[in-house]
Amino acid sequence: MTEKRKLDTRKIRKRKVHKGEKPLSMLTCYDFQTAQLIDNLDLDLILVGDSLGNVVLGYETTVEVTLNDMITFGAAVKRGAPQTFTVVDLPFGTYASVESGLKNAIELFQKTKAEALKLEGAAFTELIERLTAVGIPVMGHLGLTPQSVHQQGGYYTHGKTTSEEDQLIKDAIALQKAGCFSLVLECVTPELSQRISEMLSIPTIGIGSGNKTDGQVLVINDLLKMGPERPPQFCKPVADFYELKRQGIELYLKDVNGQRNEPSQVSQ
Ligand code: KIV
Repeated sequence: MTEKRKLDTRKIRKRKVHKGEKPLSMLTCYDFQTAQLIDNLDLDLILVGDSLGNVVLGYETTVEVTLNDMITFGAAVKRGAPQTFTVVDLPFGTYASVESGLKNAIELFQKTKAEALKLEGAAFTELIERLTAVGIPVMGHLGLTPQSVHQQGGYYTHGKTTSEEDQLIKDAIALQKAGCFSLVLECVTPELSQRISEMLSIPTIGIGSGNKTDGQVLVINDLLKMGPERPPQFCKPVADFYELKRQGIELYLKDVNGQRNEPSQVSQ
């Protein structure tokens, strides 16, 4: 591939599918080597999601993820992918007030060298206005917002009732008005996702929300099936890395255990 042409917020803002633009492609990434690979591929955006709490750190929910966790993983990814527009999640509890949100967001933005941060929910429009005013681009996130799993009462599809629909539309417009340059819609009904996508001037990026958004995002561990459990219904894995790792480790064990009789194949 020729030198990757890095996106910026001005280019991302224009990526509206119903205006004939190509959909945005985003994947989560949590480590240096995968980031190096992605930096040489045509993927538009990396998300260092706080889903790293579930798939890398083994936490039960993303509520346990700390600012330091996000700094460590965000900085590692950015070292591997300097040419890819990278968004890092601001973790639970670090933006409970405007002042703490400003302080923590600036620290995360500076220490990771990310190009943008992502915040969950619509209750933080004042903070989003302040962040964009100081020069930190913000991606919004509505629908299923895992940092509020206890408040929302579990993981399920949003926008199924008229009142939920009205609320989500109001929230999406408020986030755009506050200055978000794009918006993740997680587990929102496909019909409502399409409506919101056509209503907003900023691009929407869907996960489990149908194929009428302006882009798609998946957790890379689900796409490649890196773990033992079944990925969510909306994600069809393209590989089985868990099985490949098992086979590789078993090959190594066979090799080590047999090395008294034969020359080693895996290592010399
Ligand atoms: O943390 C994450 O990976 C996310 C995506 C699921 C959108 O927020």
